[in-house]
Amino acid sequence: RTPKPAILTIFGASGDLTVRKLIPALYDLARDRRLPPEFTVVGYARRPYSHEEFREILKEGVAKYSRSKLGNLWESFSKGIYYFQGDLDNLQNFKDLGEFLQTLDSERGTLGNRAFYMATAPSFFAPIIENLGGAGLAGDVRNTRLVIEKPFGHDLESAQNLNKVVQQVFHEKQVYRIDHYLGKETVQNILVFRFANSIWEPLWNNRYVDHVQITVAETVGVENRGPYYDEAGGALRDMIQNHLMQLLALTAMEPPSAFEADTVRDEKVKVLRATQVGQGPNGLAAVRAQYANGWISGEPVPAYRDEPRVNPDVKTASYIAAKFTINNWRWNGVPFFLRTGKRLAKRVSEIALQFREVPHLLFPSSSAGQLNPNMLVLRIQPDEGISLRFEAKRPVADIAMRSVNMDFHYGGTFEVASPEAYERLLLDFLLGDQTLFTRADEVEAAWKIVTPLIERWEIQKASDLNYYDAGSWGPSAASKLMDNGRRWRRL
Ligand code: BG6
Repeated sequence: RTPKPAILTIFGASGDLTVRKLIPALYDLARDRRLPPEFTVVGYARRPYSHEEFREILKEGVAKYSRSKLGNLWESFSKGIYYFQGDLDNLQNFKDLGEFLQTLDSERGTLGNRAFYMATAPSFFAPIIENLGGAGLAGDVRNTRLVIEKPFGHDLESAQNLNKVVQQVFHEKQVYRIDHYLGKETVQNILVFRFANSIWEPLWNNRYVDHVQITVAETVGVENRGPYYDEAGGALRDMIQNHLMQLLALTAMEPPSAFEADTVRDEKVKVLRATQVGQGPNGLAAVRAQYANGWISGEPVPAYRDEPRVNPDVKTASYIAAKFTINNWRWNGVPFFLRTGKRLAKRVSEIALQFREVPHLLFPSSSAGQLNPNMLVLRIQPDEGISLRFEAKRPVADIAMRSVNMDFHYGGTFEVASPEAYERLLLDFLLGDQTLFTRADEVEAAWKIVTPLIERWEIQKASDLNYYDAGSWGPSAASKLMDNGRRWRRL
C-alpha cells in the first residue's frame, strides 16, 4: 500500500532527529517507491533558512545516514521539501503556516492531508498542540495526524496532563506516540514468533519459565545530549519507562484476538497494569549507577561527569537494573530482570527466557559436567536472531554434557536488509496504522510502573548512586538483585 498524498510538517526541523533519522528514512521510503510523488515535507523552525539552504543541510544528512545513499532521486525528492520560519509559541505563525500549507496543497496536489511531527524539546509539545488547535489545523481523523516523539512527559502526572492537552485538540485516533523500538524488525518479530508458532505458547508461563532477562546495553556515552539527559533524569526515563517496558509488554502480554491497533494495545495495557517493581531485601529491587572513565574499543573515554554539556553536580544515572514482577496467572512468581546502560562493554540488546531446571537430575554433574537450564534468546540487535540453548551429550565414551545452540540469524536467512525503525514508523503513520504506536493509557501505565523508583530516587538524591568503569558490565551491586542463585547473562 502507498499512503495518500500529504504534507508532513516537522516542528524542530533544524534538530538532529530530522537530519539524522527522519529525512534519511523518508528518502529511503521514496527510493523504495513507498511514497506518492506528491508527498511534501515542510520543516518548521526558528532559524532563518531559505528552502534551498534547508535542502542543502538535509542533503548532507541523506548522504551520511540513509540506507540507499544519495542518488539521482534527490533532485525530485528535494523539490518536495520546504522550509517555514516560525516560533513554536506564536499563534500567528501557525495561522500563517496554515495558509502556506493551503498554497502547497494546490501546487503539489496534497488534497488537504496533513501530518504534524513534533521533534522539538518536550517543553514545546503542549504549546505546539494548542497552537495547532488555535490555528484551526487539527483537522479530523480522515485528513490530519499528529506524531509525538519521546519523551512523553517526565512522570505520570505530566504525561496525564500532556494527554489532556492532546485530547482537547485531537482525537486519540489521530495521535501517534513514537517509541522507535517498536519499529525495529526484531521487536515486531516478538509477536510473530510468539503467535504464529504453536510450540511456544504452552511453555510461555510460570510453569516452565524461571525468569526473564531484558538487556539493552550501549557502548556510546551520553554524546552531546547532556542537558536533555540530565534533565530527563537519565536511564530510567530515557530507556526503562519506554523502550524496555515495551519489550517487557510484548514478551509478557496475552495473545490479542487480531493484529490490529487497539486489540494489540489493549493487551499491552493489561500486562503493564499488572507490572510492578519487585521487592528485594532492602525494599525496591533496583540499582542505579553512573559511568566513571574507562576504555571502549581500546580507546580511553571520560567519566559521565566530565562529558561535554553535562552538569557534574547532577547525579544522573546512566545505568539502571531492576527486578519487575507481573501479577497475573501467567507470570506470578517469574521475575523479569531489566538492565540498560551507556558505556557498557558491548552494544547488545536481547530478551532471554531462562527455563526451569529439570525436576530430577539423572546425570551427576560432577562427572557429566555442569547442567545449564534451557534458554531462549531473542536477539534484538546487533546480531539479530533467535537462539535456543539446550544440553547435548558430548561425543565421548562417558556421559559428558555441553550446552549447544539452535540458531536463527536474520543476516544469513533473509537476503534483504531490514528497514530502519523510522522507515517503518513513518510509513505506518502515513498509512494511518497505529499498531506500533503507544496509546494514551499505555504511556500512563508505563509511567505508573516506574513511579516508585522516581519517588525513591528523588528522596534519596545521590546516596545510592553507584559508579562503574566505562567498558565494564555495570556496577557489582546489580548482581545482588538476582535472587535464588540466578545470574545476569554474560554477553
Ligand atoms: C533513544 C535514547 O530513545 O534510544 C538514547 O534517547 C539511546 O539515549 C537510543 O541511545 C538507543 O536506540 P538504539 O536504536 O540505538 O538502540
